[in-house]
Formats: sequence, C-alpha cells, structure tokens
Amino acid sequence: MEFIRRTAQALLVTAWIVVTISGAQSALKTPVWPSSFSVRFHEKDLNIFHRPITTENDGAWYYDYSIPAARHDHLQGQNNTYCQGRGLNLTDPHADCSLLYVDNRDMYVHYPGERQCCRACGPDEGCTMMSQTNLAQATNYNNETFNGTACVGWSIPPEKYPIDQWYMTEIGTPCYWETIPIVHPFIVSSHSLTFDQHSYHVGPIPQDLLKVPSYCLNICPNPYVPPH
Ligand SMILES: *[C@@H]1O[C@H](CO)[C@@H](O)[C@H](O)[C@H]1NC(C)=O
Ligand SMILES: *[C@@H]1O[C@H](CO)[C@@H](O)[C@H](O)[C@H]1NC(C)=O
Ligand SMILES: *[C@@H]1O[C@H](CO)[C@@H](O)[C@H](O)[C@H]1NC(C)=O
Ligand SMILES: *[C@@H]1O[C@H](CO)[C@@H](O)[C@H](O)[C@H]1NC(C)=O
Repeated sequence: MEFIRRTAQALLVTAWIVVTISGAQSALKTPVWPSSFSVRFHEKDLNIFHRPITTENDGAWYYDYSIPAARHDHLQGQNNTYCQGRGLNLTDPHADCSLLYVDNRDMYVHYPGERQCCRACGPDEGCTMMSQTNLAQATNYNNETFNGTACVGWSIPPEKYPIDQWYMTEIGTPCYWETIPIVHPFIVSSHSLTFDQHSYHVGPIPQDLLKVPSYCLNICPNPYVPPH
C-alpha cells in the first residue's frame, strides 16, 4: 500500500515537472517592434477581380516611434490604395510613392519624382503608424522557412483582416507579412510583403528621410476615405 502511494506520488511529481517544462518551452513571447528600424521588402498584390491580377513592386519602411514618424515607400509599379486617386497632378500614378506619417496626426502621400504631395488622411480614417505592440494578441500556430531562414509564424486575431499572418525570426527580424482581406467563399485577394532580412536595421532613422516636403498640400484634392 505504502509502495503504491509513493509510486503514485512520484508519478504525479514527474507529470508536474514534464507539464511545467513543456509549458515553459511553449511560452513563446510575442515580438515587440524596436522603437526605430528600417527594412526593405518586395510587395505583391493579388486580386482575381482586377486586371492585371497581380501587381508587384519593391518598397521600404522607415519607422521611428520616438518622434513619432514613419515612411512607407511603395516603389515603381505600385498600386497602393492610399497613393492612388488622391487627385494629384501626376504623369505616372504608379511611380514611386511614399506615405509619410507625422506625429500620428497626418498621413501624406508623396510622389518624390513628380514633386507632388498632399495630406491624404489621419487617425479618423485609420491612417496611423503601426504600433510597436501590434503582435501582442498574436498566436503561434505554425512556423515556416523563408529564403533559408527559420521564421516563427504569428496570427493576429481577425479584426481588421480575416487573415493577418506575420513571420519573424526568433531575434525579431521580419520575414514575411500576408493579409487576406476577404475570405468568401474562397481566397480572391491577398497582399504580402516579403522582407529582405539582410536589409533590416535597428536604430535611428536619418531625419531628412522623414521630412515632409515644403510643397505638400494641407489637404489632397481627393482625401482618402476608408471603404464603408
Ligand atoms: C489597381 O487597383 C485598382 C482597384 O483597386 C484596379 O481596378 C486596377 O486594375 C489596379 N491596377 C493595376 C495596374 O494593377
Ligand atoms: C500638371 O503638370 C503638368 C506637367 O507636369 C503641367 O504642365 C500642368 O500645368 C499641371 N496641371 C495643373 C492643374 O497643375
Ligand atoms: C515555432 O518555433 C518556435 C521557436 O523555435 C518554437 O518555440 C515554437 O514551438 C514553434 N511553433 C510551432 C507551431 O511549431
Ligand atoms: C536570400 O539569402 C541570400 C543568401 O543569404 C541573400 O544573398 C539574398 O539577398 C536573400 N534574398 C532575400 C530576398 O532576402
């Protein structure tokens, strides 16, 4: 009897240790963005209702939450929702376009090659910088390898997008981001950024990269209006 009780006790202790250790292993912490960083990427947009179905372009992010300011470059070939249709006088609407976020108050659309720029929107329209903790609610369901690097997958609960999936290395280098805005009844569109992991740089952004040009209009001829 005594033997059985001791064995049961030992088994319980063993089970407790196993659960605790595996629990500690799976307590993977969600990544937090550094207060300043930059990274380049390749952007791909797929929509089976558009011609062409796929748009591809290069781009970059410059992010500095200490100011706060950010710049999102969508380069030649872009069909970015914010850049398009603002009523600027452009020879090529798909030319290099920067989104400039200033003080979480204004977002400007800037075509540097055409010296055309205007304020498109602000927080009222959801035009704010990405939060440093945008992955705080995310869950790890799967991992994947990108360009030979192991990346941890993070799913953001469906709010803004039904599918919002990030991949980051264990030390926080961004690998890939994909959003799927509508999932009915099959996937009809997706938007992705494949990050150039070698270009990821943590540290302050040169101030001139984040400056709003003097020729920016205070308001676009056609300001950005979010869908419905
Ligand atoms: C750009 O997007 C619009 C709708 O958002 C679409 O109608 C158009 O075909 C796209 N153009 C290019 C060049 O991809
Ligand atoms: C638009 O730009 C072109 C050349 O870049 C210029 O000739 C034209 O006057 C401009 N139109 C307006 C309304 O500013
Ligand atoms: C993903 O990789 C991390 C880090 O190696 C690991 O802790 C986690 O359990 C993995 N997740 C899955 C779903 O395999
Ligand atoms: C993929 O990895 C190779 C080797 O490290 C590197 O030279 C190349 O730039 C990487 N490509 C991308 C898109 O990150």
